[in-house]
This record gives sequence, C-alpha cells and structure tokens, in this order.
Amino acid sequence: MSGKDVTYNDEDQTLKMYLRGRPIILAAPSALAENYDISATGPKPPKKLELEWVYGYRGKDCRSNLYVLPNGELVYFVAAVAVLHNVEENTQRHYIAVLHNVEENTQRHYIGHTDDIKSLALHPNNVLVATGQCAGHNKATASPHVRIWDSETLETKAILDDGFINAVCCLSFSKSDEGSLLVAVDDSNDHTISVWDWEKSSKIIETKCSTETIVAAEFHPQQENFIVTCGKSHVGFWQFEDGALKKKMGIFGSHDKPKYINCLAFLPSGEAITGDSNGNLAVWEAGKNTITNFITDVHDGSIFCIYISKSGNVITGGGKDACLKYFDQNMEKLDEEAQVKYFDQNMEKLDEEAQLEGNFGGVRAIAEGNDSQLYIGTTRNCILQGPGEFNPIVIGHSDELWALAVDPQSDKFVTAAQDKYVRVWSADSKKLVVSKRLEDQAQSAAYSPNSAEIAVGCVTGKWYVLNAENLEELADFTDGDEPIQVIQYAPDRDLMAIGSRNNYVYLYSIGEDRVYSKLGKLTGHSSYITHIDWTSDGQNLRTNSGDYELLFWNADERSQDPHSSTTRDYDWATNTCTITFTTVGIWPSDADGTDINACDRSHNSELIASVDDFGKVNLFSYPAIQPHTLYRSYGGHSSHVTNVAFLHDDSKLITVGGNDTAIMQWNVV
Ligand SMILES: *[C@@H]1O[C@H](CO)[C@@H](O)[C@H](O)[C@H]1NC(C)=O
Ligand SMILES: *[C@@H]1O[C@H](CO)[C@@H](O)[C@H](O)[C@H]1NC(C)=O
Repeated sequence: MSGKDVTYNDEDQTLKMYLRGRPIILAAPSALAENYDISATGPKPPKKLELEWVYGYRGKDCRSNLYVLPNGELVYFVAAVAVLHNVEENTQRHYIAVLHNVEENTQRHYIGHTDDIKSLALHPNNVLVATGQCAGHNKATASPHVRIWDSETLETKAILDDGFINAVCCLSFSKSDEGSLLVAVDDSNDHTISVWDWEKSSKIIETKCSTETIVAAEFHPQQENFIVTCGKSHVGFWQFEDGALKKKMGIFGSHDKPKYINCLAFLPSGEAITGDSNGNLAVWEAGKNTITNFITDVHDGSIFCIYISKSGNVITGGGKDACLKYFDQNMEKLDEEAQVKYFDQNMEKLDEEAQLEGNFGGVRAIAEGNDSQLYIGTTRNCILQGPGEFNPIVIGHSDELWALAVDPQSDKFVTAAQDKYVRVWSADSKKLVVSKRLEDQAQSAAYSPNSAEIAVGCVTGKWYVLNAENLEELADFTDGDEPIQVIQYAPDRDLMAIGSRNNYVYLYSIGEDRVYSKLGKLTGHSSYITHIDWTSDGQNLRTNSGDYELLFWNADERSQDPHSSTTRDYDWATNTCTITFTTVGIWPSDADGTDINACDRSHNSELIASVDDFGKVNLFSYPAIQPHTLYRSYGGHSSHVTNVAFLHDDSKLITVGGNDTAIMQWNVV
C-alpha cells in the first residue's frame, strides 16, 4: 500500500485520494489533523487473527470430498480451507441442542491453498491428503495446483504445480502400490489427465481425457496402473504402461446410455461400478470395458455417489431423491433404505410426502466412521451424521452470501444468503442456533441495538423484521424493487436506515410496541448505497456509494450535510463505511474501488478489519489514516470476501465469503 496518489492539503486539512480515477476529498477530524503526517507509516495492528472455525462444506459442485481419518476426524473442504473436524459423539438428538462439551467439537485447518479447493483424495495410509485448487484472481500467486499434506502434523509433503489449467477437479492415489502415484484431471478444454510420482513432484505422463466434463478419476484398488474415469457421456478405462496411457471407452451396448456418468467405485470383487443420470448402476467386468450387470431405476433421478462400506455393502446416494439405497456385494438389494431429505425450515423432520424447500439437498458424498457411523455430504453444503436418523453436524449456506451482523450483547451473529436462509449462530458453541427460510434471497442484515430484532434486506426490495430469538416474522416492508444493500439501526435512538441498490436511503422510526414506520428517504447519491454509519447520538449519518462517494446527512431533516467543518468531528458509532478519513490506509495503492467490500472497526476502536476481492481478510490498527499502513493479511476465503464484523466483545472476528459461501470465525489475539 503506497501513498502515491494520496495528497494532503494542510490548509483545509483534507486528504485527496483517487479510486478508479475519481478524486475523493476526506476531511481530517480535528484531533487527527493536529499532528498529521501523510508520509508516516501507519503502525502494525496490535493484534493478530487465528482461524478458529469454518462453517460450511462444499458439496454443491464438488465430489468425493468427505473422509473419516483414523483419529475420527472428518476431512473436507470449503473455500480455500481443508477442514479437519472432530465431531461430537452422536448423542445429540437435534443439532440445535445446546452444546455441553465444547472441547469435543473442534476443528483444525490446512490453509496452504490460495483459492477454492475443488478436489480431495485420501492416501491409502489414511494419513496423507491431497487437495487440488482452482486458479485465483492473480494467476501468478494462485495457480491451479495440488498440495499433499500430512493430516496429523498439517505439514506439506509435496506440491504439484506444472501445467494444470483452470482447476484440479479430480484426484486419486494409487492403491495397489501403497500410494506412490497420484492421478489428476484438470478443468482445461481437454480435461487433461496426468499421472504423478508425487513424492518427487514429477509428472510421469499426461494426455487428453475428454472434451466434456470429467467428474471422477480413480485408481483401481488391486490392479496395478489401472485407472477409471467418468463424466459427461464418458466412462474411460485406462492402462498406464510402457510410458503411455491407453484408454478404452466403456461400452453400454444395448443398455440405456446415460448423459452423465456421475460417480464410480470398485466392488470388493475388483469390478468397477458406475452410477448415472438416469438412476441406473452399471457393473463393469474387472479390468474390462464391458458391462456385466446393469441395474435400472435404483434412484429417482441421478445417482450422485457410490460408497463401498467397510462390511462390503454398496451404498448409493441420490442427487434428486436424496435417498440412500443399500446392496450387498453381489448387488442384491438390501431392505435398508434411508432418507436424508425431508426437513422443514427449522430442520425438523417432515413426513416424506411433504417434500418442501427446506431440505439438505441430495447426497454428494458418503463416509464411514468406526461403529458403522455414516456421514453424508449434501448438495446444499451440509454434512449429516447417521445412520438411522441423519442429523446435521455441519450446516452451510448454498448460495452467494453477503449478509452478516453481530448481536450487540452476546456471542451470537446472523448470516443470510441468496439461498434464502437466515441463520443465527453461536460463536462460543460454534453451532447453529436457529434457522429460517425466507421467500426472498437475502442481501443484508442488522441487529437492533437491544438485540431483540433482526432486520433482513432482500434482493427484491423487501425487508423483514424478525424476532432475534426464534426468527419469527414480526413485519415486512418493501422499499423500491432493487436489492436492500445495507441496514443500520441508530445506536441511541429508535431509528433505522435502509440503503438500497436504487441509490436511496430510507429512514424508519421505531415507535411504541416496536412498530416501524417510514419517515422518508435520503436522496443525493447517484449510485447504489454500499455502507451506512450513524453518529453515536443518532442525529447524523454518513453513506458510501458504488461510485465511491462519501455523503453526510441530518436524520431529522433528512437532508445532506455538506459542511466538512461540522461533519469532520462527528462521533461515529461504527466505521463500516470503507471510504472515510480513518480508513485511508485500508486501500491498496492500485485499488479500483470495488476491491474492498467491507470493513469493521472493533468496538474498542483499537482495530479495523477489511475484506477484499482477493480472498483476503486484512487487519489494521485503528484509525488507519496513513496511506502507507502496515497490516496483517489472512487467506482462507476464495475470491470476494463480502462482509466482516467483530463480535460484541471484540474477542472474535467473523467473515463471510460471497461465492465460497463460507463463514469463518477468527480469534483476535
Ligand atoms: C477405527 O478403527 C481403526 C481400525 O481398527 C483404528 O485404526 C482407528 O484408530 C479407529 N478410529 C477411531 C477413531 O477409533
Ligand atoms: C459470484 O459468481 C457469479 C457468477 O460467476 C458472479 O456474477 C458474482 O459476481 C460472484 N459474486 C461474488 C460476490 O463474488
């Protein structure tokens, strides 16, 4: 962060900075103007962040990414973080139950990746893990590559970074030779398949796999150098010998040829088994490309997952019907069957007929612990624990996530996403407290200062007032027909401000019995409202907009307050506006204005944290008034971290990713 384009005018005590070529004038508060030195270097933040917890799982569009390690930890990924999750014993009947023993519910994290992880494989020794990522915003610092690491020590053992394009989508260790080879398929046009001597980080061979999407590549468990791939209109049987990869395509013959072959596994007999988009299973003659057994109508809709249990049974998981079906080793159907889908918005189990929206999604991955405990990763980014009644142990949002607000008085915080879910979490217990599905996609949220209510703004212009305890709907309003970008309650008065994509800020008063009524709107911005702060006395506001303006307002007169002589010394209750005198230091020198999505000042005014388009969470000393300011930067999210907030007591920081849908909880230490 250099100060090259920022200048200070001593006479009127203003800074001038440029964002995307636009000049922005920022008046220095009198107390800071006195000894202001623009060329000084802003001090390092007095605190650090430590990633404590990651809420979420990536099951929406990734496969084969859930395993149980010998120590009982689950391994999976979300955003750029591989999570090692020590799950509580399955004694809890309901996930909303209060947690009695926090210690059992712990996470460790492997954070070597620089962008979204897309693939994961477990080594036959059950200790080493390979994870593959996609290319980042900056190709130079985030190339698509594979990292092989030790799940006990979190030490990186090898990095494979040679020639992958876009993303590494499929990974599998060889099994018959104790895992010395790794096969990978990337997301290039040719979906290149490569085989690696991973310990030497050396690529042995690569070749085109298919012009269509490939979803799985697996080494045969017994047969050496034999690999099976599947994907869109594709089952490939590969023999790797004499320095060449030779492919035979699977022949469906007279059988119903599917559009997609979604998943594959190997029966104890050595035969490969594939599941397809028609809900059919095909068993392939060992080492051959011909079908020996074709089982139709196993699922209603696609088969997304095949798992061979420790007892040798075959469990298949449906994408649409969200069912598990069980077979023995001879593919005779067993009576057992399980349903993972039908829960209402509060995740209460419903009758099977009532298949409502509020479900966990289809079966994406299956893993098994000791004592036949079964874990299911779902297409709606949740992980459930069974068997029998499947209870969620990991809950994730499954669509773009922007809305975040912290409870002013407790360890709780709320998130709301375009998946329409509003969720209240407890940072102490690291659990979901309550969840509700709205009719609209959510964009913004705020807690009322008395912690009693949560306001949630939606993309339609509708916004809700919910009871913060149980998320019961208390009222709803509509302002404009564009997204409600931001909501802020005044700290000390019964007022609130609603910032819309339509460039207006709507003001509401909260009267007797908490009845909300509209006072009017603030007009003057020529782009969408991005951030709002109130003064501590609730008399004034400042707002930022999409065209990098900073405007000041008088709430009672609902008029603009253009006089820097008065506005410069307002006492701000929050500092969520990213374009202010006290946040000059959070802008990188080449910022294009959209780079910083949000910031938040700690309640004790010691720190300010920002989140950006490059997947970074940044921590600064507050105020960050020098263009050149030292800071600490943390990865974990993939591109576009959309929101950030300190918990009420500043002990933790919460960040949310946009498309990575992850919620990260950081200890401030
Ligand atoms: C599960 O069983 C395996 C094999 O007996 C053992 O090595 C492993 O430690 C066990 N894991 C747990 C969590 O008990
Ligand atoms: C999420 O992805 C969509 C589609 O690629 C894109 O249009 C949108 O801007 C992304 N949002 C964020 C917050 O990164």
